[in-house]
Amino acid sequence: MNTIISGLQWGDEGKGKIVDYLTESADVVVRGQGGNNAGHTVIAKGVKYILHLLPSGILWDDKVNVIGNGVVLDPIGLVEEITRIENQGIRITPDKLRISDRAHVVLPYHKELDAAREAALGDQKIGTTKRGIGPAYADKINRCGLRMADLLDRDFAIAQITRRTAEANEVLARFDLPTFEAEQVIEETYRAFERLRPHIDNPIPVLHKAWKAGKSILFEGAQGTLLDIDYGTYPFVTSSNTTAGGSCTGSGLPPTAIDAVIGVCKAYTTRVGSGPFPTGDEGLSEYLHGLGREFGATTGRPRGCGWLDTVLLRFACMVNGVTGLAVTNLDGLDSYDTLSICVSYEIDGTVHDLPPADRSAWDRAKPVYEQLPGWKTDTSSCRSYEELPAAAKNYLERLGELCGAPIAFVGVGPDRSQTIVVP
Ligand code: IMP
Repeated sequence: MNTIISGLQWGDEGKGKIVDYLTESADVVVRGQGGNNAGHTVIAKGVKYILHLLPSGILWDDKVNVIGNGVVLDPIGLVEEITRIENQGIRITPDKLRISDRAHVVLPYHKELDAAREAALGDQKIGTTKRGIGPAYADKINRCGLRMADLLDRDFAIAQITRRTAEANEVLARFDLPTFEAEQVIEETYRAFERLRPHIDNPIPVLHKAWKAGKSILFEGAQGTLLDIDYGTYPFVTSSNTTAGGSCTGSGLPPTAIDAVIGVCKAYTTRVGSGPFPTGDEGLSEYLHGLGREFGATTGRPRGCGWLDTVLLRFACMVNGVTGLAVTNLDGLDSYDTLSICVSYEIDGTVHDLPPADRSAWDRAKPVYEQLPGWKTDTSSCRSYEELPAAAKNYLERLGELCGAPIAFVGVGPDRSQTIVVP
């Protein structure tokens, strides 16, 4: 059974927890896109782990973890992450972590270029994680990027880094941002690369062998559908295909190998960074921040919060081909009397069931809400679907109906035991 986990909102849907849950029955866990802009918090046996680039299967002893070719990989950041996770008692051996030799490298100047582009955009800035993701993907598409395999050819890599550092410095100098010495970039990159070298491989045969042997492969999507470079709220998006298809192109396992797509969404909506957010609600944001919830795992930024938006979810279920929904953070709504669900947008007097492409239309989109009764009960100790209050089940069923996909999982808290499987 090969399954893709996709985020259906703007990232931070709690995918890490669902991935962690499904990892138990998986043999291989794969990241196929994005980079260390992602931040997955997983709580296992009471210990909190924050993963950025490492697939969640790394927390288990018997899983193979693959960082696929579609990922942009910051070697320095990855080594820091490996060290941090190893210090928490997890062993990361070459058998356990395979890194694609085709993955593109994020270099220190990509991060500064990211900052420079944001500065140039002023109040139109994207609100990126400043991890160099956009500039690294831009180099890939411009055919001037550096891949892990290229670092194996030291002379080529040194010439390429030297040339690209000089080009980056020209841009950085214009913004009065720190420039780089090529020698230092090379030295720091190679220091990290040496730690990663035993993990570098062509994982495509590993994945195909696992597929043909009937093993279970789990694809861990990062970010979310509304941050997808094609389907998201462009230009306020990330630079990769975060939707299900990105898992295939980002790993070398074809669409014919995929059996299921689990779409993960929160019981409400959140977004970090800039860009449209029709159902954003200050009251709900304040309430959830007051509970100590909704602060970013990567940047610590408070996330904007809002009501459930099924216009976005309906679209996300379509483009990902969702076969089952995982609704997380249901317990976040436990205290509310009445809950709003956005069922459509009204834009210039016309009702829209799907999100617009036209960026100016987002500013005029008025959410049309349906009100549902809250359950006013603590759900965090519920361990089965039957135990959930009737109003919570009603809310979930309406959500599934509006999105056209069945509910497969419900999350009622951060711990592994707080994931309810819906029969
Ligand atoms: P970038 O991916 O750093 O270029 O940032 C582009 C947009 O994606 C910004 O709005 C970020 O806040 C958002 N973003 C990137 N990664 C994540 C994530 O893992 N969770 C939530 N938002 C993200």
